[in-house]
Amino acid sequence: MTTDLSTTIAGVQFPSCFMNAAGALCVTRDELMALGQSRAGAIVTKSMTVDARQGNPEPRYYGFPGGSINSMGLPNLGYRAYAEMIPELKRFGKPVVASVAGLCEDDFPVIAAAINAAQPDLIEVNLSCPNIPGKPQIGYDPEASERVIKRVRHLITVPMGLKLPPYFDPAHHEVMGRVIGRHGVNFLNMINSVGNGLVVDPEREAVVIKPKGGFGGLGGRIIKPVALANVRAFYKLFQGKIPIIGTGGVVDGVDVFEHVLCGASAVQIGTVLVEEGLDVFGRLETELAAILTHKGYRSIADVQGMLKEL
Ligand code: SIN
Repeated sequence: MTTDLSTTIAGVQFPSCFMNAAGALCVTRDELMALGQSRAGAIVTKSMTVDARQGNPEPRYYGFPGGSINSMGLPNLGYRAYAEMIPELKRFGKPVVASVAGLCEDDFPVIAAAINAAQPDLIEVNLSCPNIPGKPQIGYDPEASERVIKRVRHLITVPMGLKLPPYFDPAHHEVMGRVIGRHGVNFLNMINSVGNGLVVDPEREAVVIKPKGGFGGLGGRIIKPVALANVRAFYKLFQGKIPIIGTGGVVDGVDVFEHVLCGASAVQIGTVLVEEGLDVFGRLETELAAILTHKGYRSIADVQGMLKEL
């Protein structure tokens, strides 16, 4: 029995439900081309700003057995470079997702208009980078989020999604749900890293990354329950009508299966892609297919959102 790991998000077909998270191996042209050649089901660009950025001082990424902490600070080539690359990236025959960030609200429409003109397959508006010193995550401010969404919505003609931070209370899911519901958002991606965690090295009696006094976004296995909770909460809030990309804590095929059960249509891979490289996509395909086959399912659509409650 063959297993169908393809998926559809906002009418766009993905040959497989796995893709990189914005930030993981997707800053440079070479990295994006390598994603194109890999088994990834899409190519997601690094979240882009108006001007190219070096990002925060190093060390700014640290992996540990349970996950990772990063404070990259949006190192990227600037939107013009990504806009130029999009036609070339589209030749790989899989969706290209342009991730749009900004250092202030005025940046978002500038980038959205220009990148939309290059016609990626989807645009993800990142409301959740926790790593720019002095800049709070927009996604934690519903009014600011709504202002940004309003300013970009009419400029974007391809499916538009939001990359959200983790929320920790149903009241916050509901408030953001109302904002999202008012503006014709076509898909959601959650969660960005769990912002402003702190990892300590007891040997050196020191923090492990340099920016922001060691505070950074947590990723990897330790954040999976938070990611699953957010996927599930928004899946239920929108009764499955807004497709969700589940991001956070995907290490193996079981993690993907759990994200899909909670309602995800696809998953993004961050920490393990950085740690393991592009071969992770083939491994996850094999592992997910084995789980689905073992359980008698033929596609991810068979289980999507079917999490049982007791
Ligand atoms: C970073 O570049 O600091 C990470 C990007 C993000 O969390 O959105």
